[in-house]
Amino acid sequence: MCGIIGYCGPKPAAPILVEGLKRLEYRGYDSAGIGVLENDVLHLVKRAGKINDLRNALPDGLGGSFGIGHTRWATHGGVTDRNAHPHADGRGNLCIAHNGIIENYTALKRNLETKGYEFRSETDSEVIAHLIADLYDGDLERAVKSAVRLLKGTYGIVAMHRSEPGVLVGARNGSPLVLGVGHGEMLLASDVTAMLEHTKQVIYIEDGEVVRMTADDHRTTDTRDNRIDRSVETIGWDLEEIEKNGFDHYMEKEIFEQPESIRRAMQGRLDPDTATSHLGGLNMTNRELLDIERVKVIAAGTSYHAGLVASYLLESLARLPAGAELASELRYRNPIVERNNLYFAVSQSGETADTLYAMREIQRKGGRVLGICNVVGATIPRESDGGVYIHSGPEIAVASTKAFTSQLTAFYLFALLIARKRDMSYSAGLSFMRELERIPEKVQVVLDRAAAIREIAKKYAGAQSFLFLGRGINYAVALEGALKLKEISYIHAEGYSAAEIKHGPIALINEETPSLFIVPDDALRDKIISNMKEVKARNGKVIALGVDGDNELADIADDVMFVPSTNELLSPFLTVIPMQLLSYYTALERGCNVDQPRNLAKSVTVE
Ligand code: M6R
Repeated sequence: MCGIIGYCGPKPAAPILVEGLKRLEYRGYDSAGIGVLENDVLHLVKRAGKINDLRNALPDGLGGSFGIGHTRWATHGGVTDRNAHPHADGRGNLCIAHNGIIENYTALKRNLETKGYEFRSETDSEVIAHLIADLYDGDLERAVKSAVRLLKGTYGIVAMHRSEPGVLVGARNGSPLVLGVGHGEMLLASDVTAMLEHTKQVIYIEDGEVVRMTADDHRTTDTRDNRIDRSVETIGWDLEEIEKNGFDHYMEKEIFEQPESIRRAMQGRLDPDTATSHLGGLNMTNRELLDIERVKVIAAGTSYHAGLVASYLLESLARLPAGAELASELRYRNPIVERNNLYFAVSQSGETADTLYAMREIQRKGGRVLGICNVVGATIPRESDGGVYIHSGPEIAVASTKAFTSQLTAFYLFALLIARKRDMSYSAGLSFMRELERIPEKVQVVLDRAAAIREIAKKYAGAQSFLFLGRGINYAVALEGALKLKEISYIHAEGYSAAEIKHGPIALINEETPSLFIVPDDALRDKIISNMKEVKARNGKVIALGVDGDNELADIADDVMFVPSTNELLSPFLTVIPMQLLSYYTALERGCNVDQPRNLAKSVTVE
């Protein structure tokens, strides 16, 4: 969603801010702006549209070596230049950029208007600029602290004032802020990718904290002025990882990285001597692991689908009752948290508001929540009771791909760990482990068949509607296939259990609506084949995704894709790859913006 960047240092600020915003583009945005101070004048340049529109609008030779920038994803007020950030006070003395939502802005605005402050935008954020101006008495840090005490809602804020050149002040409550500590320069951003070109040394700002920074100094305090000392951490990502490296799109790059990212998620975590896994970050004793009576996964979107696969897996492999629930639903239904329940909050970004708030609700009730996250240092992993980093490397495309297979990897490691504590023998554990280790090379085999999948995508790219059908552990993959297709190609798509189509969706079948059936070589194969025939009998087009050697599929389906055979429980690793490729190629055929689909944000930091 929205992105923030701030810079103080010796270099011209504007190009650094614009480049930082470019790095934040992937989060999703609809307008952008920067504010820099040059010769005692606060220059604000804001544009609805793309960063390039902003770049083109910058005055030639704009100087100034400190400033702030923002990408906006509209919540309050339309997508206009005026509503873009930064927002200034009426006198052009200060400006702010804000991520989050100010829930009490109407009351604050009314109060400020009675004092004569004039509002120029329809946003909730503008109220922060006027509020700080109202409270300003020569010390920006103090004014920001007084202002945030009056705010209700979520915020990551960065502010600057004309009377304090070279000073930026940031404040955080619920929207991430990271301080980048460089050599003679400092950055403040909502996401480390915006600062990776300048520094890898960061300090994560926590909720309730305010940071004051200059080019060579920084100080973090709470809103009551208590000093907070936190150590500098080193970001584990390289600049190269956030480049496209010869691929046309981030999504394509991330799909093709999966053999490596899955391998990385497993690395050092499998032990053939004991046929089990080691997950050091769980922070649980052997006894506590043995005492788990039920697992519940909470997540959103693709991460939720990983949770659905996990719950099927944990029940089958480890004989441990498990389920997955949308975090947004769980939070508001007064969930029952029982002793010996273990919760997993799964989130690529680690910042998804629905998942974070659901996790806090579980913890408030005394439940133990482990995080499965990609972004190191994000809020969910920091607030969880332990967990597993999936080490996928940065996932930039809005459509999640490699994070999904790495989340699966974390769950398969956990399932093996629990299974081996319960009733799985050493030899069964070892053979499962060996097959898990073969997954990256089998994923590569599927990726090598991308050209054939592209042909199928071309054939069906004109469809208005699509059904994805799977059963058992691949039911979740059908849901994921539908999500992938709809979010990047804008084709209406639904995922269903193949068995369920008779209960409703079969009414949608006609010659124009393709159905993609996932047909692994398992106990339900013949039943799925019957479902395929039911669709064919109604003139529906059928695409079958089967296992190498299943030649019968070609006799029934209009088109067939194949994946190598594997253990039935491991099949989602392979069956999801054609879904990702099909969506990607379909979106290309339709001329869609693959990496930044309309209306979507990479990290959904508001409810
Ligand atoms: O960062 P998270 O994993 O918590 O994100 C959850 C969803 O917002 C995310 O998976 C979303 O559904 C993706 N766009 C799916 O491709």
